[in-house]
Amino acid sequence: MTAQARPAPALGAQLPLRPELEGIAPYGAPHPDVPVVLNVNENPYGPSEQVVADIAAAVAEAAAGLNRYPDRDFTALRADLADYLLVESGVAVAPEQIWAANGSNEVMLHLLQAFGGPGRTALSFAPTYSMYPEYARDTSTAWLTGRREEDFGLDPDVAVAAIAQHAPSVVLVASPNNPTGTALPASTVLAVLDAAARVPGGCVVVVDEAYGEFRRAGTPSALELLADNPHLAVSRTMSKAFGLAGARVGYLAASTTFVDALTVVRLPYHLSAVTQATARAALRHAPELMAQVGSLRDERDALVVWLRAQGWTVADSDANFVLFGVFDDRHAIWQGLLDRGVLIREVGPDGWLRVSVGTPQEMQAFKDALVEVASL
Ligand SMILES: Cc1ncc(COP(=O)(O)O)c(C=O)c1O
Repeated sequence: MTAQARPAPALGAQLPLRPELEGIAPYGAPHPDVPVVLNVNENPYGPSEQVVADIAAAVAEAAAGLNRYPDRDFTALRADLADYLLVESGVAVAPEQIWAANGSNEVMLHLLQAFGGPGRTALSFAPTYSMYPEYARDTSTAWLTGRREEDFGLDPDVAVAAIAQHAPSVVLVASPNNPTGTALPASTVLAVLDAAARVPGGCVVVVDEAYGEFRRAGTPSALELLADNPHLAVSRTMSKAFGLAGARVGYLAASTTFVDALTVVRLPYHLSAVTQATARAALRHAPELMAQVGSLRDERDALVVWLRAQGWTVADSDANFVLFGVFDDRHAIWQGLLDRGVLIREVGPDGWLRVSVGTPQEMQAFKDALVEVASL
């Protein structure tokens, strides 16, 4: 049929949208333009002049070769990330045990593309990160949640029973968890790993440590469990501790067999040369950036103490945010803060609010606004 003979499509023709996407709004926190932004757990400190200069130089070098596709196996970046993990957590992993993508969001999508899919189930424990069900939906994986306890911890017996009951192919647990800040003890992760190993057909366990660097002293990283557990992946990101949310770099460490499975589902050359260069330049400044993480941790602990002194209930936090409440009308508090130029997040169980840890000045603005709003 020639182009001329083809009948014009009817105005308002129906698009064959997948039924499960019908009427769904895209994910994203509200982002009004206000002076104090404490709603998406970003690092409040931008890169230093030196980091900016190094990134700019690395990107300029990469730009000269942009006529070519990037190293699709991002070999140098994997080696740098392995070196970083050794320093950060004392756990040695080989570069081949590292996988990276455009944010840990994409890492997680790869995980579900490889290990989820039609007829399979992904299991997590609520309340938790609200993107998880979206990865499941987008890969046609069934999504189920078990429960966390009153203090937002995970009871190993509850977790083990849920895994035995639902036989998922993927278990996703965030530690520290978003939005609660709760980190899991190694014994709980081990119980989950053990239950997963007994699922007929196999089950992978993903410990999402997007906020891992903010954990309190004595809180272990699940990286320590990698050597004995080929079905474990520990996911990290450069968005939080490194203050590199805009660069979109997330990664995981797992057994080489696990990582090999992810290479099958990635798009060719998914990690651009510019992204690889940016991440590598920032990693060269890891010691200086980690010093900043220390002051954010102190600021977080001080915030928890202050909120409790005001009489609020506060969840223990190993992350760069704090969940507090319990408000009869949390929306009114959220709105009152926003009216005073402070944006936090209305998320988590009913009555609770989440605030990210900012600079000392931002924390002061938040405290002043909260005292005012709560006294109305
Ligand atoms: C628990 C958790 N995992 C993963 C992410 C995604 O981070 P990114 O895609 O920026 O690496 C976030 C972002 O807020 C998060 O809270």
